[in-house]
Amino acid sequence: MTYMKDFTIKDVQDVYDGPGGLLWEAVMGEQIHSGGPEATDALAQKVGLKKGMIVCDICSALGAPARHLASKYGVTVKGVDATKTMLEKARQRTKEAKLEDFIEYYEGNAMDLPFKKDTFDVVWGQEAWCYVTDKNRLIQEARRVLKPGGKIAFTDWIITGDIPEKELDPLLETMAFPYMESFQGYQGLLKQNGFKLIEALDQTEEYAKCFDEYYEKVHVDLKPTILDNFGKDLFDFASNLVTIWQKAAHEHKVGRGLFIGQK
Ligand SMILES: C[S@@+](CC[C@H](N)C(=O)[O-])C[C@H]1O[C@@H](n2cnc3c(N)ncnc32)[C@H](O)[C@@H]1O
Repeated sequence: MTYMKDFTIKDVQDVYDGPGGLLWEAVMGEQIHSGGPEATDALAQKVGLKKGMIVCDICSALGAPARHLASKYGVTVKGVDATKTMLEKARQRTKEAKLEDFIEYYEGNAMDLPFKKDTFDVVWGQEAWCYVTDKNRLIQEARRVLKPGGKIAFTDWIITGDIPEKELDPLLETMAFPYMESFQGYQGLLKQNGFKLIEALDQTEEYAKCFDEYYEKVHVDLKPTILDNFGKDLFDFASNLVTIWQKAAHEHKVGRGLFIGQK
């Protein structure tokens, strides 16, 4: 039985419309995922991105991965995100980068994509689907909008080991995650929704090292900025968050998974 918490899309919007969005960018960078642009390149190479392909980035946030993919690989990207602040910043930064002919952003929900069937060569996601309340529905939507033969490529925060509910609960609580899929769980979802599974990688070791960096950043480099701009409560919240996630990642209870499937 999957352990679930009662977080909805409104909770996620509150995080990313508020200081949470700024904090995550300060800690992880404009590409809000562990491993930064290198992780984006690794996924792009694995899925075989080629000039002219059309990519759907589900949960596109600030649009930094979309800009990276458009400028480096010559693809066009349609990003979908549910949070207005993220969409505004993504559009502004894309205009500044003069990439608006290659990238469009849509306000929408990952579980009900605003696109026709058979539209995309690649459906893409980096470390955001953990916020989605029904990942089966998300995978079905991804398949619907992919062209026949198109590929889904994503990374996500996942459960990678045995973790009791009392340890999982505070992890989900700090992140506003309704639940996390497991490494096996995502592979099952892909297969049961008709994808051919091409690759599934447990990248927890790399992910745990990223948390060492985030722990350091929050407690040293960013500490004065967080305290000055957001106050002690947010600093204490961020400090607890990185501490418990770093520990659980090093214990290989939670981590990052990379998945590639084909329609
Ligand atoms: C960690 S950030 C995404 C990072 C982004 N993929 C990147 O690599 O830069 C999470 C984003 O997911 C979006 N999000 C979460 N749940 C969503 C949903 N159900 N539908 C659309 N967007 C969602 C949030 O608004 C937020 O911008």
